[in-house]
Amino acid sequence: MIEVAADADALAIRAAARLADAMGRAIEARGRAVVFLSGGGTPRATYARLARDGGGLDWSRVHLAFGDERCVPPDDPRSNFRMVRDTLLAHVPIPATQVHRIAGEDPPAYAAADYERRLRALLRDDRPDLVLLGLGEDGHTASLFPGQRAIHEPEHWAVAEEIAELAAWRVTITPPLINRAREIVFLVSGAAKADALRATLDPAGSAAQLPARAIRPDSGRVDWLVDEAARGE
Ligand code: 6PG
Repeated sequence: MIEVAADADALAIRAAARLADAMGRAIEARGRAVVFLSGGGTPRATYARLARDGGGLDWSRVHLAFGDERCVPPDDPRSNFRMVRDTLLAHVPIPATQVHRIAGEDPPAYAAADYERRLRALLRDDRPDLVLLGLGEDGHTASLFPGQRAIHEPEHWAVAEEIAELAAWRVTITPPLINRAREIVFLVSGAAKADALRATLDPAGSAAQLPARAIRPDSGRVDWLVDEAARGE
């Protein structure tokens, strides 16, 4: 389903409500919620809103993990963990043991293997309740970038890759994990994303060049929360 919000503020309100609703439903149904958060800039306002409005949630039953991480220390301004800590984690009573950080400060391959080991211990044969994803102007999502091997990873739940166009290493979750999710929500804001959004939703698009097209859940649902600017014409 594609839902269009009038502007970035309305989008953040809607996205925060969707996250809170999904977590509440998961806790009600299974006693816990396992949610993967996206990084970058767009979700900042959503997380801040969730921190303010998510008071009704039983945070002691919430597990938060990350869709990807830049291979930098957790206090680095580029760190997705730092962004989520500052906008959300510092403001809600989630147990620290239930925040599943990717160790960006470690060697990338080790960080990816360690993260996958922890995710498999967390989920076992369960599934993520919700994976929140962004969309880059080049069509990347999480840190699945055009032309990268991770898009076609058949088995591992997390991998490390050097992203050519960034000349930087990233750790990312992969389609085998993302597609297990009960719910996948893409959060897309701003006119700069309009072309990537349109191309990604175009049935003719290919996953190799538009990694978000590799996201086809086994049985879960995919929703797009976008603002008018991202929807474009
Ligand atoms: C990251 C994100 C990435 C992000 C897109 C969109 O680590 O940057 O996980 O996939 O969602 O790049 O980023 P913006 O929201 O900043 O445009």
